[in-house]
Amino acid sequence: MTSALFDSAAQNYDNTFTNTEIGKLQRARVWNYLNSILPNNSLNILELNCGTGEDAIWFANKGHKVWATDISKKMVEVARLKVEQFNLSDKITVEQLDINEINKASFPNRFDLVFSNFGGLNCLTDNELNVLSQRLINLLTSTGRFVAVVMPDFCMIESLYFLSKFKFKEIFRRKMMQIVNVDNAFVKTYYYNPNRFWGYFKNEFNINKVLGVGLTIPPSYLNNFFEKKLNTLQLLNGTENFFGNNLFSASISDHYLIDLRIKK
Ligand SMILES: C[S@@+](CC[C@H](N)C(=O)[O-])C[C@H]1O[C@@H](n2cnc3c(N)ncnc32)[C@H](O)[C@@H]1O
Repeated sequence: MTSALFDSAAQNYDNTFTNTEIGKLQRARVWNYLNSILPNNSLNILELNCGTGEDAIWFANKGHKVWATDISKKMVEVARLKVEQFNLSDKITVEQLDINEINKASFPNRFDLVFSNFGGLNCLTDNELNVLSQRLINLLTSTGRFVAVVMPDFCMIESLYFLSKFKFKEIFRRKMMQIVNVDNAFVKTYYYNPNRFWGYFKNEFNINKVLGVGLTIPPSYLNNFFEKKLNTLQLLNGTENFFGNNLFSASISDHYLIDLRIKK
């Protein structure tokens, strides 16, 4: 298990993403959608690549039970601290686990929802995504859902930004695997447009919904530029809420959310 992946980013991750204005807006969009599909009764949720546990805490505060996993030892440590701090140990279990070794884990039950937020699955190759799809079948209940937030291979705002900086080479950078610097964690990142991603899961799942997350809300690395421009960000958020809820928007956003339901 390459635990060091993302370790160096763990301590700062909430400062550089979770608690930034852009990070909050992008996550709010994901939570908004989840709110529209989560039932009132308590679900068993498996979270992949949970990072610092922000979503696990949100799910638990809504009464759900979460098994939150991440490959990074340090991310897991931060998540565990938060769980203790919010007194949610009865609702959340945090385990260090590589998505690619999910078949070796032993869980106490099947899950109603498997959830992966903000690009953890972009660390997997296409072959690994194929394998994951087959493994999820053994982890989900017969009505289970798989909701993932993934980075597509083109982002309109990012490309406009690079164009404005005359960085022409960067405009289509997502078309190829990139080594991305996340707070000094150098991470191999593969970008998948929604159709390609869907291709790895379509034998096992039906598609419910795809929507953009970051169509006009900018990528988080532009946070320094936007931090003091809250009105502009609110305007961009409004535009995104209006235009961002379809497959085309999803394929040109910073991320997209894809909601899959297991085939009967
Ligand atoms: C951009 S962060 C997202 C964290 C969190 N889901 C969130 O919403 O803030 C990506 C996370 O994916 C995790 N990750 C990357 N590859 C992984 C793998 N193979 N198995 C499990 N976690 C992985 C990293 O350790 C990191 O915490």
